[in-house]
Amino acid sequence: MKPLNADFRSDTVTRPTEGMLRAMCAANVGDDVLGDDPTVQRLEAVLAERFGMEAGLFCPSGTMTNQIAVKVHTRPGDELICSKLAHVYNYEGGGLAFNSGVQVRVGGDDYGRLSAAEAESLLQPMDNVHAAPTRLVVAENTSNKGGGTTLGLPALQELGAFTRTHGLGYHLDGARLFNALVADRERPEDYGRVFDSVSICLSKGLGAPVGSVLLGSKDFIHEARRIRKRLGGGMRQAGYLAAAGLYALEHHVDRLAEDHARAADLAAFMKDLPYVAELKPAPTNMVLFRLAPGHDGGPLLAHLEARGLRLIAMDRHWLRAVLHYDVGDAEVRELRDALAAWPG
Ligand SMILES: Cc1ncc(COP(=O)(O)O)c(C=O)c1O
Repeated sequence: MKPLNADFRSDTVTRPTEGMLRAMCAANVGDDVLGDDPTVQRLEAVLAERFGMEAGLFCPSGTMTNQIAVKVHTRPGDELICSKLAHVYNYEGGGLAFNSGVQVRVGGDDYGRLSAAEAESLLQPMDNVHAAPTRLVVAENTSNKGGGTTLGLPALQELGAFTRTHGLGYHLDGARLFNALVADRERPEDYGRVFDSVSICLSKGLGAPVGSVLLGSKDFIHEARRIRKRLGGGMRQAGYLAAAGLYALEHHVDRLAEDHARAADLAAFMKDLPYVAELKPAPTNMVLFRLAPGHDGGPLLAHLEARGLRLIAMDRHWLRAVLHYDVGDAEVRELRDALAAWPG
């Protein structure tokens, strides 16, 4: 078997660049659990300022920032509304039930979009003691299972107006928000105005090895910090990791457009492959495709793996290729050749 040439499974697989490693090694650190790591504080402040929000909290993962946010927004027995494709609902190990004791009402389309009108139809009648009170709406931009779809600020603002009318919390899983900002030419501060809390991942397309930041009001983040401690998510000399995040924010945001262009080209090529039945549009850095009936993902993945290329199966029929800074034009060419050579 050929050694691995290119890993398209996720944008989480990137290794730190030399520049990033140098920034990490040079970081000025303290003990973040005791509240005196200057590099962590700078990362939290830089992101909070960029989004026009009061405070930030550095955490080990996007799962933790999402789970903490839900915990702060809700009480056990409450209900939240999100897309049927949402990461918090599908891929966080049942954390909503385990950590917060909430139940979930899902809706929306196959691209991760959920309109304000549909959210309204999912709202529980608050004066009915038989119903679990709706407390929170969670949006995800870009939508991972939706194929990297961007939801667009206007739709998110409309959903935000709905949450305010009904006194609900509004959380954004922005694991790949910078992809959306670049693709849709949007401004972070507009997101800060719409959402009560925002989770940003540094270890996806931005290319840091570890870390996510939760943004919100000072009071919200104070409570979030307590829950991070309870979950064991406090990290001591975390400034070495925060330095990677700061480096990524400075050097890796604009280049996301390159990943988007490569994803669009790859999707355009794949739509003519005889064994591809359906492709989600690829507006950011992901290409999700469904195999035609009679084709199974396993043999295709094995065919690629033998050529040193990796994709990931979302389920038996849907596969995913993700573009990121460790895969350039040469790797995409290799992938195209290998896909074209699969007999199906
Ligand atoms: C949309 C979304 N939210 C949250 C997460 C969780 O991030 P982490 O892997 O850092 O826990 C992911 C991970 O891929 C994701 O795609």
